Amino acid sequence: MPSQFLHPFSPPRKEAFISVAGGTGALVSDDQGNEFIDAMASLWYANVGYGREEIADVMADQAKRLGAFHTFDPFTNPQSENLAAKVVELSPFDRARVFFGSSGSEAVDTAMKIARISHREAGRPEKQIIVSRERGYHGTNYGGTSVQGIAPNRDGFGPLVPGILNVVADDDEAMKRVFAEHGDEIAAVITEPIQGASGVWPPPEGYLSHLRDLCDTYGAYLIFDEVITGFGRTGSWFASQFYGVTPDLITFAKAVTSGYVPLSGVIMGPAVIDSLEANEGFVLRTGYTYSGHPVACAVGLKCIEIQEREGLLERATAIGERLSAGLDSLKADGLLVDVRGAGAVWGVSIPDSLDVLATRDALMTQGVSVRPIPPNHLTMCPPLVITDDQIDTVLAALRSVLGGT
Ligand SMILES: Cc1ncc(COP(=O)(O)O)c(C=O)c1O
Repeated sequence: MPSQFLHPFSPPRKEAFISVAGGTGALVSDDQGNEFIDAMASLWYANVGYGREEIADVMADQAKRLGAFHTFDPFTNPQSENLAAKVVELSPFDRARVFFGSSGSEAVDTAMKIARISHREAGRPEKQIIVSRERGYHGTNYGGTSVQGIAPNRDGFGPLVPGILNVVADDDEAMKRVFAEHGDEIAAVITEPIQGASGVWPPPEGYLSHLRDLCDTYGAYLIFDEVITGFGRTGSWFASQFYGVTPDLITFAKAVTSGYVPLSGVIMGPAVIDSLEANEGFVLRTGYTYSGHPVACAVGLKCIEIQEREGLLERATAIGERLSAGLDSLKADGLLVDVRGAGAVWGVSIPDSLDVLATRDALMTQGVSVRPIPPNHLTMCPPLVITDDQIDTVLAALRSVLGGT
């Protein structure tokens, strides 16, 4: 019989799960004492690694002082003010403001709502359509589900949010046609700079800057969903800086707190801020009970400090170089069909003759955790504290499981 806990993204009848009990650095252990190298930073988030006492201390100190208090008008708190200021400083914007939520899905839904309402506030109420890309993953609330580019994740959940156009990924011409047909009504394009959850797909050369140009020509906002890429994954604070393309809104979550406590947000650049601030008397009627949660924001500040102090952005680049060189050599030996990625986030395609879930399980028996993405992709996004030896162990396990020696 399955337990009372109904697991996310899992078959409801499944009974046996691995019960995770502890972690240090990039190593995680289960309740049987088995250890594995987490080559996925859990679900793309544990940048600073597990078992950081100084983060636990920050949480305890803040909880003792004030566990929580809301930030709806008229309240604020120093932790959310300080984190917003720090996030803006790290962002690609000269001038920006930050909205906080708890999950990436909340950040995505908020970015979609803000794109629409800021056009209305700027006198462009006809701009309502949100364009997304196939293969995109934007969370599982109704907004994020509606802009999903992974069709099975949309299936069966009833009517979705109207006014969404999903366009073939990586196809400049298809995007141009959508703008030529609907440009006057397009509020925003939402895209991950590197598509993650569908298997890690970096953008083709020039794709993101063409998207920026199209949005500028038609007065649409560009939303980068940086829930995976934000806070160092590419070796820059944001993939926007890595690719040299500045959007109008950035969503973030995951690595901002390395997952020690849930926190997400939306960074809004000048075009959006000016629209939101245009009209006296306008009230932004969206927000969450836990927007600007002081414990979460204190952890966010601490995680940024750790990443700066330990040079983890530089480390992301080095990790990516070592990992991708190893993956390329597996491909050269005919064990992999494809290798894709940037910074410290990589995806591979395994031969069709192999089952992707069985391959994941075989890697686990060798003490390595990766994420399987059917039909034939495995993804790797290690904590930025993974050691070179641990990277080599991941590569050796892959070689052995894929039929090398
Ligand atoms: C790009 C992207 N956006 C949004 C989300 C949703 O985040 P959450 O699961 O925290 O709601 C994810 C989660 O993996 C993601 O990868």
